[in-house]
Parts: sequence; structure tokens; C-alpha cells
Amino acid sequence: MTTLVKNGTVVTASDRYEADIFIDKGVVSLIGQGLNLPADEVVDASGKLVMPGGIDVHTHLDMPFGGTNSADDFETGTIAAAHGGTTTIIDFAIQNFGEGLYPAFEGWMKKAEGKAVIDYAFHMIVRELTDQVSHDMDKMARHEGVTSFKLFMAYPGVFQVDDATIFRALLKTKENGGLICMHAENGGVIDTLVKDALRKGHTAPKYHALTRPTRAEGEATGRAIALSEMAGVPIYIVHLSCSDALEKVKQARDQGLPAYAETCPQYLFLSYEDYERPGFEGAKYVMSPPLREKWNQDALWKGLAKNDLQVVSTDHCPFCMNEPPQKQLGQGDFSKIPNGAPGIETRLMLLWDGGVRAGHIDPHRFVEIVSTNPAKMFGLWPKKGTVAVGSDGDLVLFDADKRSVLSASTHHMRVDYNPYEGREVTGGPAVVLSRGEVIVDHGTLRGKPGRGQFVKRQGGRPLVP
Ligand code: URP
Ligand code: ZN
Ligand code: ZN
Repeated sequence: MTTLVKNGTVVTASDRYEADIFIDKGVVSLIGQGLNLPADEVVDASGKLVMPGGIDVHTHLDMPFGGTNSADDFETGTIAAAHGGTTTIIDFAIQNFGEGLYPAFEGWMKKAEGKAVIDYAFHMIVRELTDQVSHDMDKMARHEGVTSFKLFMAYPGVFQVDDATIFRALLKTKENGGLICMHAENGGVIDTLVKDALRKGHTAPKYHALTRPTRAEGEATGRAIALSEMAGVPIYIVHLSCSDALEKVKQARDQGLPAYAETCPQYLFLSYEDYERPGFEGAKYVMSPPLREKWNQDALWKGLAKNDLQVVSTDHCPFCMNEPPQKQLGQGDFSKIPNGAPGIETRLMLLWDGGVRAGHIDPHRFVEIVSTNPAKMFGLWPKKGTVAVGSDGDLVLFDADKRSVLSASTHHMRVDYNPYEGREVTGGPAVVLSRGEVIVDHGTLRGKPGRGQFVKRQGGRPLVP
């Protein structure tokens, strides 16, 4: 199978030029001007920006959580991702208590097999660090291409681990070249505040945010970085939401420590006011960390522009409001609202419109934070994350003038609301290719479920400054 992409403007993290791209058996084999080779498919990219496909390193598909399962599985979730210009995801496989990492890894491989439309990889969530798990971390990193592990400093009884466990896991990555991804919120403080709020009869969704202060995220972020410094390894903070936590990352990086962090569109475009919506509507925005006061958004944009934040992922973890009633599990008790929100489809559109067009970042930084850095951070580069000879033919033909209105009535995510309902955005994918195959063509899905492949990742230090 060969594909020729003609007359596009290639935009990577570093370059911009007019070129044609020839893809042979899924891999870019030639980039040049005026290429006239015969190909099985010729795609016209005139007037489009040709960028590497988006890489979303934080998704939760088909995940048991909060007494239910996230609403998108690997079929619906990756179809939605593809429509939004994302061609690779890294999802989280969850270790079960009392087991090693292999049952979880195999379980998540089964969830994805025959369903995924785009390529996928896994991080492993570690809930307890037994000798078996410790041994499996090495095997995962060295043999399975699962080179990152998420630990939680919050959700006591479900995911939370103590500092000794975190420190031991960090030391493990020194040996096996893995990377620890940290959910940094102080679970003990939050748990106390939650119990106190419920005792006072404060049950509405907004109390989710009011019991998870920015200090609880800042403290945990600082502690996580300090632990990684003592272990002598890099650390990656996931879904960073506020200035308080960003300051800790900034301080560490100013000292030359290999501290990295991602934020997500919801923290750049939504805010605490969304919890004040009437009735139970605030439940749509119940996620952890919660949405913050609006002023934090400026700090996050600056963090992205100055490379104190290196990645924007989605933390896509959708739960329906009513059909089926998943968020409703928390009627009368905000602590029972399943935590998470949808976003796998809207990341590139939002970041182009609200990031590039709004003047916070330029198109090259856009490519860097949605594709190149995610690939370099998590061992996918240069196979993924750039447009180059030898890289996979994962491309987004991006129409900078395309106008869309984000809405549950038109999105492809299997969830009955869109957190950005009614928001108009300019800029979006016209054609999406995965390994040279057109998978989305002007809004029409062409990629078949099951074509997505598991990607084994490299270990080692992140290749991001
Ligand atoms: O609320 C969230 N973020 N749900 C997904 C689980 C997690 O902590 O990433
Ligand atoms: Zn988390
Ligand atoms: Zn998450």
C-alpha cells in the first residue's frame, strides 16, 4: 500500500515548507517537491497544514472507576480520537490488588484488540508495590514496551500509595529506564475535607472542587518532585491544573531538575464557575484535579509557552449524565460522582483555536505540545510525533479555516454531553492518516475497528528539554 500526499504545507515542531509526502507500507519514504510517483491513493493537501498526528498520552477507555465504567471503549474512543486528529493514544491499564502487572496488561490488550482504529500503547497504574509488581515493572519496561507507570497520591483505598511506595517505585525506574507519572493531590487532606463537607450537608457538585484546594495539588506536586530528586530520576506530573502546582514544577526546572508536566484543555478553557451551573449540571465537570479559578488559565498558557509545561493531553474519562445515568450516582453526595470528563476528540481544535489563534502559542509549539513532546516524553519518537523519512505516516491535514461548533449532537464520543457545548472553534482536521491509510476523510470514518496496533515504547530518559 502506497499513499502520496500532494501539495501540502508541512508543519513540524521546527520546520515549515511546501512538500509532497510519499508513504510506503505505512512509513514515510520520501519527502520532496513535485513528486510524481504512482501510488495506490493520492491525497490532495492543497491549502492544508500537514502535521504529525496528535498523540494523546492520557486516556481512560473502558475503565472501571467510581462504581461504573468509562463510557467510551477502544472502538468508540479511538474513532472519536481519529475524528479529532489524534492517531496514537497511551491508555492506562490498572493493576488489581493482589496481582502482578501482567494480568492488567493482558486485560487491556484484550480490551483494545479488534476495536482500536488508531495505534495505542499503555502506561501501567501501580496500586501496590509487592516484590512481584516490582519484578513486573522491570519486565514491562524491558520486554513489553510499557515504559511508564502511574502512581496516585490521592483516592485513598482505591489508588493512593504512600511516600515509601512512591520512593521505591521511583528507584525502580532508575534501574529499568521507566518513567513515573504522578497524580499529585494530597489524598489525606482531601479525604478529611470531603468528610467534613458531607457532615455539614454540603452535597452539591461544586463541593468536589471546594474540597480539593490548589494547595493540596501544589503540596503533592512539590513532594513528588522532591521524592524524584532524592531518587535521582525524572518525574512527570499528570493533569496539572493550577498555578500553585505549576510553581513547584517551575522551581524544580529552574534548579535543573528533570521535572516534567502536562496540562489538559479543560484547565485551559473551563473554570470553577462551571460548577455553579444550575441543578446537577456541575457534575459534568467533576474531575480530579477539579477546574480552578479562571486566573490560573493565564499561568498555564505561560507555562506552555515557556516550556514549564511540555505536553497537553486530555485525561479523557467520560461518564454519561443520563444515558446511562453515570454521573447521577452522585445525586445527593458529590463524592460519589464518577470523576472524569470527555475530551479525546476536541483537543486539537480547542488548542488551535484558543491557543494558536488566540496568540498564546505558534503553530510549531502547537505541534510540539500535542504530538512531538508526547512522543519524545514516552518513547515513541521518531517513529511517531514528527513528519520525517522513516517515521510512520501518521498525518493530520489540518484546515486552519474550518469552523465547527462543539456539541454532543455532532461529536463521536459515546457520552451524552460535551463540556464545551456550543463553543465555536476555527481550525480542525480535514483528513487524518494513520500509517499511510486515510482513516478520516472530511468527517467520514474510513478506518476499520481493529486496524490500530499496539506500539511497544522505548525506555530511557525523556528526550524533552
Ligand atoms: O477525574 C479524573 N481525572 N479521572 C480519571 C482518573 C485520573 O485520576 O486520571
Ligand atoms: Zn489522575
Ligand atoms: Zn487520568
